[in-house]
Amino acid sequence: MCMVIFAPLFAIFAFATCGGYSGQLRVRVDCENKPDSNLSINIDFAYPFRLNQVYVDVPTCKGRSQERLFLVGDFSSSAEFFVTIAVFAFLYSLLATVVYIFFQNMYRENNRGPFIDFIVTVVFSFMWLVSSSAWAKGLSDVKVATDPEEVILLISACKVQTNKCSSVYGPIWSGLNTSVVFGYLNFVLWAGNIWFVFKETGWHKGGAARYPTSAPEKQAAAFNQQSYNQGTFDQSGGGFSGSGDLGQTEYSQVGTYTSSGPTSY
Ligand SMILES: *[C@@H]1O[C@H](CO)[C@@H](O)[C@H](O)[C@H]1NC(C)=O
Repeated sequence: MCMVIFAPLFAIFAFATCGGYSGQLRVRVDCENKPDSNLSINIDFAYPFRLNQVYVDVPTCKGRSQERLFLVGDFSSSAEFFVTIAVFAFLYSLLATVVYIFFQNMYRENNRGPFIDFIVTVVFSFMWLVSSSAWAKGLSDVKVATDPEEVILLISACKVQTNKCSSVYGPIWSGLNTSVVFGYLNFVLWAGNIWFVFKETGWHKGGAARYPTSAPEKQAAAFNQQSYNQGTFDQSGGGFSGSGDLGQTEYSQVGTYTSSGPTSY
């Protein structure tokens, strides 16, 4: 539960930068017969990047007639997959935070909370990696499909030497590049959290902390175990804090837990 602040925030950045994107490119078709030209052909597209449904009317340079130009490709599956994972990761991290803070006893009961948390964290780490990679690939394809130089090649008037076609500007990619970066950052965050959730399960201590309320002796033993955990963690936390803000916060969040842990006995 070290991700109390970062996990929901990073998930929001991931799905907001991708799901909220809209881009525009502009090309010009300069016909041999000037009045037929259109020097400002705008093409707008947005999430979820079903580009084969994006069209614009462009001059054919044969009189006043126009042709309907469609972009190529449908990249909605990788984009929607990415956003879906981000939204569910956001919801889960919020839910887990609420359970962890307000239902600490329920979380501890039969070790069920840590067990579920561990499984879900592993699954989400994997999903972040897969969806970020899929979306990174999808984005590079979107960039090719919306490159004005590529779009010009689709316009039949531009295949005639005497007409001049050129790109005016292409889409701005910083938002979508950010979404991919945040996808991988989320993967690192969730994968790194696997270790902390694993510690919560108590499996690494041979199950000593697994059923802390089964018997009074065991309870005392578990309590010692608890303070022992706290001690060892302080050391590892100290070593960890050197690696930056993230480590610092993860440490302090878990620190908050270990100090509140004994009060539940
Ligand atoms: C040029 O194309 C745009 C579409 O991007 C259209 O809105 C505009 O009316 C066209 N201009 C002319 C002169 O046909």
